[in-house]
Amino acid sequence: MNAFTFYSPTLFAFGEGAEKRTGELVRQFGGHHALLVYGGGSVKRNGAYDAVTDALRDADITWAELGGVQPNPRSGLVYEGIDLCHRAGTDFILAIGGGSAIDTAKAIGFGAPYDGDFWDIFTGKAKLEQCMPVGVVLTIAAAGSEGSNSCVITQENGNMKWGSPKSDLIRPRFAVLNPRYTCTLPAYQTACGAVDMFSHICERYFSNTPDVALTDRLCEALLKTVLDAAPRALANPDDIAARSDLMWTSTLAHNNSVGVGRDQDWASHQIEHELSAFYDCAHGAGLAVVVPAWMEYVMRHDVARFARFAVNVFGAEMDYANPERTAREGIRRLRVFFAELGMPATLSEVGGNEKDIPAIIAHRREKPNGFPFGGFVKIGPDDMEAILRLCAK
Ligand code: NZQ
Ligand code: ZN
Repeated sequence: MNAFTFYSPTLFAFGEGAEKRTGELVRQFGGHHALLVYGGGSVKRNGAYDAVTDALRDADITWAELGGVQPNPRSGLVYEGIDLCHRAGTDFILAIGGGSAIDTAKAIGFGAPYDGDFWDIFTGKAKLEQCMPVGVVLTIAAAGSEGSNSCVITQENGNMKWGSPKSDLIRPRFAVLNPRYTCTLPAYQTACGAVDMFSHICERYFSNTPDVALTDRLCEALLKTVLDAAPRALANPDDIAARSDLMWTSTLAHNNSVGVGRDQDWASHQIEHELSAFYDCAHGAGLAVVVPAWMEYVMRHDVARFARFAVNVFGAEMDYANPERTAREGIRRLRVFFAELGMPATLSEVGGNEKDIPAIIAHRREKPNGFPFGGFVKIGPDDMEAILRLCAK
């Protein structure tokens, strides 16, 4: 196991009625005048917005609002939010929704105190040195941004979907997790969320670091929980037990409690971010296409690990005479699982086209230090092209 520092200062308030604590929590973390950040209206339709604003009123918190965050959140709204913060005297940012609202809130949080273009922090021109306090009321189990130390924004000028530098400063101060609010998710978004959290665990599980037995087992437990809970939530959207498991799994999958002490991969995410920049597909849908293709491409790097994944996560039988067969069986079962969730399997199913692959690689090359990437297997331009060609099959 590698040496590590783990600092996860987020307070999690989980369960039925947890949203009633939102006002008190904003106050606890120093807020008096909040900026509410939310998406295209789901929180107004499912009651989350009303419940949260009632709780703010009860705690004498005033607020300004920034609605209309789109999935794959754009820089334009971040600039707008920063301006609003300055004009409204905001001292706390509260996201209601999923990764897109939360990431917009985080980017506003470190963009507002910075005297310049917030994108400088993404490019490395400026350091992330301070962030306003951010709180979260989560309505979709997926991205894990409610506990994570980064955010992902698409800079419209250049169509660059990039992750921010990782910093504990931008971890939310609190996250309210009431699984009830996820019952209104369309099946497609429930499935996208399941794929995203599954992939966050895989990005950590496929590691070259030896002697990580504990985190290996924790990863496998989370992966098996997704296999078990996601089909139940799809079959019965009001299955609160399944929704609860998915919600807490999404948080644990990405607050790094199961990733500490081990090198991590993140190649599939790097490739998927190009797909969602090009085609504006849902992040989880893009991952459903990329992850199995990435696995096929890198499997020979560590057949034993892939065979272990097949056996411990998917219950495949170990073929000791031919471990590669077991490894392949795991990838096959993963494809079946994603298909059963109703997820796309090919580039064209997320709106892509094989003829765009050279342009996607060229776009990636423009990113400073864009190649190579990936901690398990280093991915260069030719490897990325080969993986995308597998996605196109
Ligand atoms: O916009 P509204 O109307 O709210 O609808 C949303 C949106 O259309 C809908 N939704 C959310 N909760 C709902 C609901 N619909 C009905 N009932 C509910 N309870 O779901 C759609 C997707 O929302 P979004 O916030 O985009 O989903 P998600 O949480 O999957 O976030 C995806 C974004 O997070 C980034 C992704 O790249 C993507 O941009 N990620 C952020 C990470 C982080 N900060 O740590 C890590 C991840 O790897 C990921 O990259
Ligand atoms: Zn993700």
